[in-house]
Amino acid sequence: MDLAAILTRIGAEMQAAPDRGRVADYIPELARVSPDHFAMAICTAEGETFTTGEAETPFSIQSISKVFTLALALGRLGDQLWTRVGREPSGLAFNSILQLEHENGIPRNPFINAGALVVTDAILAGHKPREVLGELLRFLREAAGEDDIHINRAVAASEQATGHRNLALAHFMAAQGNLLHAPELTCGTYFHQCAIEMSTRQLARAGRFLMNAPGLPRMLGAARVRRINALMMTCGHYDGSGEFAYRVGLPGKSGVGGGILVIAPGRAAIAVWSPGLNAQGNSQLGTLAVERLARATGWSVF
Ligand code: DON
Repeated sequence: MDLAAILTRIGAEMQAAPDRGRVADYIPELARVSPDHFAMAICTAEGETFTTGEAETPFSIQSISKVFTLALALGRLGDQLWTRVGREPSGLAFNSILQLEHENGIPRNPFINAGALVVTDAILAGHKPREVLGELLRFLREAAGEDDIHINRAVAASEQATGHRNLALAHFMAAQGNLLHAPELTCGTYFHQCAIEMSTRQLARAGRFLMNAPGLPRMLGAARVRRINALMMTCGHYDGSGEFAYRVGLPGKSGVGGGILVIAPGRAAIAVWSPGLNAQGNSQLGTLAVERLARATGWSVF
C-alpha cells in the first residue's frame, strides 16, 4: 500500500473542497485562524511517518488534550475515576449542561467538557496547576518523542476571559459535590491544557501509544489503551460520534481547533487538521479526509 501517494491525493482533494465549515468563534483567539489550513500525518506500526500539507504548523489541540489527561488520570487513580464520571455517549453538544442536574453532577463521559473538567480536577488532587500542566507536557513530549510542545498563553487567556459555560459546568458540579477544587482553579488548568499547541505530525506521533503495537512507546497498559479507544469511538465526537463511527469506522478524538486524532489499532496513529468545523464542532474537512483514508486503506475496527 502506497501511503505517501494516498496522502498526497487526499491533500489535493481537500485543497479543492468547496465547503470547509466554520472556524470556532466562541474563543476569540481561535476565530483568527484561517479555515484554509490543511494537514494530515500518519505514523505506522512499522515506525514510518507520512505527511501532507502544513504538517509542521502548530495548532491548538483543544479537546484532543482530554485523551491525554484521561490517560494520566487512569494511570494515577485507576478505576476509581469512574465513580465521578461515566462512560456513556451524551448525545448532546460538548458543552451542554442539561444532563448534570438529573444525573447528580456525574458527567456522562470524560470527553464532554463537564467530564473533562472532572478528569482535570481529579489529577489536580495534591498538586498545583503548574505541576499538572508540567506532567501533561512531559507525557506529550515523551509520547511524541520530541520536546517542542508548548502552551499558547494567549489562547488560554482568551478562553479564560470567555469561558462562562465551563465555569457554569464546574460550579454546578461543585454544588453537587463532584469537584474537589475551586471552579476557577480547575477551569484555569483545563483552559491551559486545551491551549497546548502541537503540529499535526507531533500529534500523530504522540498518538502512537494508543495503537497497542509492539516497539512503540508504552505509556499505559494494553487494557487501558483498549478502553480509551472504546471511549474515543463512542464519545470522541460528542453528538457526532455515531456519524464519525459510521463514516470512518475508527476511534477518534476531535478538538475545536480543527484537529482530530484517529487510531487504527495495531496499524497506525493518524492526525488531521483543518480549522473549519461542522455543526457538532468537529473538523469538517478533517472528517472527510480520514473517511477517505479509511476507505483507501481498508483500515477499520469493524
Ligand atoms: O472547553 C472548550 O469549549 C474548549 N476548550 C474545548 C472544546 C472542544 O475542543 C470541543 N471539541 N470539538
